[in-house]
Amino acid sequence: MTPAVPRTDTLIIGSGLAGLWCALRAARHGTVTVVTKKERAESNTNYAQGGVAAVLSPQDRPELHVRDTLDAGAGLCHPDVVASVVEDGPPLVRELLDLGVEFSRDPGGDLQLGREGGHSRRRIVHVADRTGAAIEEALLHRVAENPAITLLEHHLAVDLILASRMSRPPHDGEACWGAYVLGPDGAVTAIPARATVLASGGSGKVYLYTSNPDVATGDGVALALRAGARVSNLEFVQFHPTCLFHPEARSFLVTEALRGEGATLRTLDGDAVMAGQDPRGDLAPRDIVARAIDHVMKTRGHDHVWLDATGLGEAFLRERFPQVYERCLSLGIEAARAPIPVVPAAHYQCGGVRTDGHGGTDVPRLYAIGEVAHTGLHGANRLASNSLL
Ligand code: SIN
Repeated sequence: MTPAVPRTDTLIIGSGLAGLWCALRAARHGTVTVVTKKERAESNTNYAQGGVAAVLSPQDRPELHVRDTLDAGAGLCHPDVVASVVEDGPPLVRELLDLGVEFSRDPGGDLQLGREGGHSRRRIVHVADRTGAAIEEALLHRVAENPAITLLEHHLAVDLILASRMSRPPHDGEACWGAYVLGPDGAVTAIPARATVLASGGSGKVYLYTSNPDVATGDGVALALRAGARVSNLEFVQFHPTCLFHPEARSFLVTEALRGEGATLRTLDGDAVMAGQDPRGDLAPRDIVARAIDHVMKTRGHDHVWLDATGLGEAFLRERFPQVYERCLSLGIEAARAPIPVVPAAHYQCGGVRTDGHGGTDVPRLYAIGEVAHTGLHGANRLASNSLL
């Protein structure tokens, strides 16, 4: 049975990091309903391995994080948005620590900072190689104990409630007043809300090969478009260079942090994939590395390349990358002794529903946050670990 859905102050569509974080903030001001189309943890956040990029080391500076982000975005980021997000990074990481996210630490107790493609400094805080799952778990815990928040699983938003489509529209013009939602019993219910937030993630699943889970079908973009909001930069889809190439594990990401720790890309003939491609080599931004792999595969007729992490040693791999190590092992690949077969796969929607600096869309009372939004943080490409940020 679908529970009766009361009128709510804020309706949030999606239960990844963006949606849950927004729910906790909005619950300080009123009631919140979060709808999610599968189980509560099923989101791209839950599969994010790498971490959160933030300026936390004395060797780093906000200007460098800004520069790396703009460089990865290839001239299409909005510099003011990038600067403001970079500035907010360190306090937000501290908030995540307060919420109970146990980021990995060095033996001395400092936060362990990883490195990924396009970053000129070590600045990725992480929980081994399951950062997204750890954040999702902590946020879900806080959401569950907050009496102002109702979370409805298996509820799919099918359309937005718009003033212009009401038989007696309010006098103050077009606005979004909630959403129609398909519940697990097959009934569509209206959830009226004063503010509606799209936090429904990206559209990676429109590609055959993707790191994304089945839920990433671009629903939020479709809802917003039908409501008359502008969408932009949707042609910029990031391909992650290293997804596992295996018939039983088509959507399994092999985190870029492995290359940050020294793993290298090799062709099936043993050549370095990135030789002569970019001075940053294996740690160039993702679009450059993914293109180089694609070029090798097409010109040599190979169906994958190798990611060689054998030099990192079994003990380090098991401790720093337990998830990747175990998954590979379960498929008969001993990453400490043999290279991992990888291919590029669709990973992140860089564009989306166009927003202002506060998540506002073209439709009053409709907001977009996280991967569904085109805020200007990501340009033609996204810097690694700027998504959880
Ligand atoms: C990764 O771990 O390689 C992915 C992290 C991200 O998408 O930023």
